[in-house]
Amino acid sequence: MKIPITKPYFTDDEYNEIKSSMDSGWLVQGPKVKKFEELFSEYTGVKYAKATSSCTTALHLGLVTLGVNEGQDVIVPSFTYIATPNSVEYTKATPVFCDIDLDTYNLDPKKVEKLIENNYTFENNTLVNKKTGNKLTTILTVHQFGLASDIIELNKIAAKYNLKILEDGACAVGAKINNTHVGNFGNMCAFSFHPRKSITTGEGGMIITNNVKEAEMIEALRSHGATLSDLQRHLKKGYLLPEFNLLGYNYRMTDIQGAIGIHQMKKLDSILNKKKEIANIYFNELKDLDGFVLPVVPENYEHGWQSFVCRIDNDILNLTIEEANEKRNKLMEELENLGITTRQGTHASHTLGYYKNKYNLEDYDYINSYKADKLTITLPMYYEMSEYEIDYVIKNIKRLW
Ligand SMILES: Cc1ncc(COP(=O)(O)O)c(C=O)c1O
Repeated sequence: MKIPITKPYFTDDEYNEIKSSMDSGWLVQGPKVKKFEELFSEYTGVKYAKATSSCTTALHLGLVTLGVNEGQDVIVPSFTYIATPNSVEYTKATPVFCDIDLDTYNLDPKKVEKLIENNYTFENNTLVNKKTGNKLTTILTVHQFGLASDIIELNKIAAKYNLKILEDGACAVGAKINNTHVGNFGNMCAFSFHPRKSITTGEGGMIITNNVKEAEMIEALRSHGATLSDLQRHLKKGYLLPEFNLLGYNYRMTDIQGAIGIHQMKKLDSILNKKKEIANIYFNELKDLDGFVLPVVPENYEHGWQSFVCRIDNDILNLTIEEANEKRNKLMEELENLGITTRQGTHASHTLGYYKNKYNLEDYDYINSYKADKLTITLPMYYEMSEYEIDYVIKNIKRLW
């Protein structure tokens, strides 16, 4: 028995579409990427969808488009994959960590307000860091594991302090609040198609926006900064070269990936429905394990279920964080020996060497993130997971707990 943490779901459709790209000879970003973008835009209800080489590069482009650069601070949750703060580092701005709400694993708007009040002065409609003089311009919020962060409250904070918001929706395809997909709350939102996500193109990303200027900027920046002049647009002459007035990047998605994306979009609803079914079975079967905390889905939120992340509650079990961490690790090891793959939720980025050393941070500085790092456990979940496999996971967790 070997149950992976997740498994991509492909049929002949993906293989045939890739073959058609290869047969056509058009391998770089082209018609298949365009079709994938159209399907993604239609699905999310957001006007413009621009594919990229990954979510990390989508986040970088989003920040550059918002004008983030040296001398600026960007608030980032401390419990997130390292790619989130890394995208800020690429712009030479400073990521400023903020702790999370331990129920949702997302930024806690109250903690964001407190961080602002304690560390910034509000002068001329701008937040200035009391210690460094940096300007706080942006919040980079993460919709962790497929659950939307409290974007409605965060938008209010942004309006109050003249901040911009970028949404890291790497895991958040299918994530909704009040039936509205993330990306529709006034900010750009970036997604990942890494194989750990609900749909995949191998590597790949997408950024969505309703703002035409942002969409045009992203389009130029992902392709070496190439923009078409007004005259070229008007004449639509293929032999004319575009203008290069921006420092751009090569962050394009290939048409081979686009080919896969088209058919992953067609499977998306079925994949999300199956994951929701598995989540409901886990909820029903594991709800009575004392100190084994199941994911929280706030009212009016639709979880995208990129991952089903549980947590060992050290307070309920009367254990220190370190003792509960040992219990979590032992459980993961025993499950691994039975062929059941589990993983911790994600990292507390402030505890990782690069950030810890550069910004002189201590593990306990962001205690909820530290706890989430040490005490979470992700259970297997994927479209082709059989009833027998689901049952095997549940039975063994119950037995070992
Ligand atoms: C929250 C978050 N942001 C960004 C990324 C980076 O995504 P990608 O691998 O597509 O660059 C990930 C990847 O797991 C993630 O979980």
